[in-house]
Amino acid sequence: MDKKLELLQSKIAEAHMGGGENRIEKQHEKGKLTARERIHFLMDEGSFEEIGMLVTHRTKEFDMEKHRFLGDGVVTGYGTVNDRLVYVFAQDFTVFGGSLSETHAEKICKIMDLAMKNGAPVIGLNDSGGARIQEGVRSLGGYADIFYRNVRSSGVVPQISAVMGPCAGGAVYSPAMTDFTIMVEHTSYMFVTGPNVVKTVTNEEVTSEELGGAHTHATKSGVTHLTASNDIDCIKKIKMLLSYMPQNCEEKTPRLPYQLGEETREQLTGIIPENAHQPYDMRDVIKGIVDEGSFFEIHEEFAENIVVGFSKLAGRSIGIVGNQPMSLAGVLDVNSSRKAARFVRFCDCFNIPLLVLEDVPGFLPGTDQEWNGIIVNGAKLLYAFSEATVPRVTVITRKAYGGAYDVMNSKHIGADMNFAWPSAEIAVMGAKGASEIIFRKEIKESDDPAAMLAQKEQEYKELFANPYTAAERGFIDEVIDPKDTRRKLIKAFTMLENKVERLPRKKHGNVPL
Ligand code: HXC
Repeated sequence: MDKKLELLQSKIAEAHMGGGENRIEKQHEKGKLTARERIHFLMDEGSFEEIGMLVTHRTKEFDMEKHRFLGDGVVTGYGTVNDRLVYVFAQDFTVFGGSLSETHAEKICKIMDLAMKNGAPVIGLNDSGGARIQEGVRSLGGYADIFYRNVRSSGVVPQISAVMGPCAGGAVYSPAMTDFTIMVEHTSYMFVTGPNVVKTVTNEEVTSEELGGAHTHATKSGVTHLTASNDIDCIKKIKMLLSYMPQNCEEKTPRLPYQLGEETREQLTGIIPENAHQPYDMRDVIKGIVDEGSFFEIHEEFAENIVVGFSKLAGRSIGIVGNQPMSLAGVLDVNSSRKAARFVRFCDCFNIPLLVLEDVPGFLPGTDQEWNGIIVNGAKLLYAFSEATVPRVTVITRKAYGGAYDVMNSKHIGADMNFAWPSAEIAVMGAKGASEIIFRKEIKESDDPAAMLAQKEQEYKELFANPYTAAERGFIDEVIDPKDTRRKLIKAFTMLENKVERLPRKKHGNVPL
C-alpha cells in the first residue's frame, strides 16, 4: 500500500515539474508565471481540483514516445473564485512550448463540457506555440473540437481568455470566439501569420510586438478587450470581470448588499458645458451616477469615441454604453459601432441591464467610413439594441441627432425608460446645418446672409434643440435634473427587475455581421 502511495506522490511531483526546472526558470526569466502559479493566484486558496493530471500524449512519430510529460502541457480543473465555481485551463509553456496535442485538446474539451452542463464560466490561460507540430492533423482536429465548444458555449456560460504568451495561427480563433480577451503587455502576442510570413508575402518588416502585441490589439484591431501589465495584473482583471457576471445565462447578475440613502449627486449639475461644441468626459457622468469606484471600463483604448464598461448601481451589475464627446465629438463610426454592439450583445446574453448615456452628433461622414462599411457596422449596433431583452434605460445628456438618435437605445427600438437632461437636443441635425439646408433660399436672398442664418439657427434651436418636443410625444418619459439621475436610475432599474420579454419564435436572427 505504501509503495502505491509513494508512486502516486512521485507522479504528482513529476506532474508539478512540467517540462523541468530549467524550463520553469526560463519562464520566470521572461517575467512569466508557470501554469500552476497562475492557477494558484486565480483560484480561492485550496479550492482548485485538477482533472487529468496523469494524461500523456499518444504520439509515436519523431521519437515522441521518449518525451512524455504528465499533463501533456495543460493544467485543467475546477475551483472557486470569490466562492463561485469556475473551470480553468492553463497551458504549460514548459512542456513542448504549451503546444496543443490531441490529448491536450481533449483535456480542455472535458472541462468545457463540464462547464456547460454545470453552468459556470470557463477561463482559459493561453500560453502556447500552437498546434503540436509532431501530431499533424490530430492536433488541428483538437483545435476544431475546442472551437466547436466555444461556439456551443457562447451565450450559455461566460468564457474569458487570457493570452499570457504566444498565441499564433489558427489558435487565435478560440480567444476570438470567447466573450473577453485580456493580453499581457510585452509577453504575449496574437497573429494569424507571424512576421516571417508577413515579410515573405507582403514584404513588410514588422516585429511580433508591433504585429500582434497587447498594445496593437488594444488600440488598432480591438481584438483584446483589456491589457495587463503582468501576469498578476491579468489575473486580477479576470477576477474583476467575473465579479460583474452571472454564472450562466439562466442566472441574474450578482448583487452586493446596498442600503438606499441620499442618492442626489450635485457633481452632475453643470457638467455639460454652456457651449454645445465644448467637449466633456462622459466618464465623469458615469462616475457621478454609479456606485463609487465600481466603473470597470472595457476596450478603453479602442474606438475611444464610445465608452463601454460594467458598473454597479445600488449594488447591482449594469452595462454602460456612453458616447464620448472628448473623442471625435462622440460620433458613431465603424469601430465604435462594432465595439458597442459586441458589448450590448454580451450584456443581453447574461442578463446584465443596460444603461445608455447619449451625446451623439450622428454618424461620421467620409469615404473611409462608407468604404469600410459604416452602413453594415452601424446596423450591428442598431440590431444589438433592438434585439436586447434586458432592462434598457437611456439618458440623453446633450445631442441626440439624426439616425444616431434612433440607434442609441431610443424608445422606438424597445428601450424601457428614456430620460433626458434639460440640456438635451433631439433633432435631425444641428441647428446650423439644418438652417443652412431648409432656409437656403431665404439666406441667399437676404441682404445680410450671416444675420439671416443666425436668426434661422436660433428659430430652429428654439423649436428642436431641447428635449420637450420629444417628451410631448412620449419618446422621452421624463426630463430630469442631472443631479437626480442616480436616484431616477436606481428606481427605474428596480422597477424593471422582473422584466420578461421574449423575441418572436425563430431559429436565430441574421445579425449584419
Ligand atoms: C511542438 C513546440 C511548438 C509546437 C514550440 N515548441 N512550439 N513543439 N509544437 N508548435 C517547443 C520547441 O521545440 C521548444 O522545445 C519549446 O517548445 C520552447 O520553444 P522555443 O522555440 O525554445 O521558445 P521561444 O524561443 O520562446 O519561442 C516560442 C515560439 C516558437 C515563438 C512559440 O517556439 C515557435 O515559433 N514555435 C512554433 C510556432 C508555430 O509555428 N506553431 C504552429 C502554428 S500553426 P525544446 O525541447 O527545444 O525546448 C497552428 C495551427 C493551428 O497553430 C490551427 C488551428 C486551426
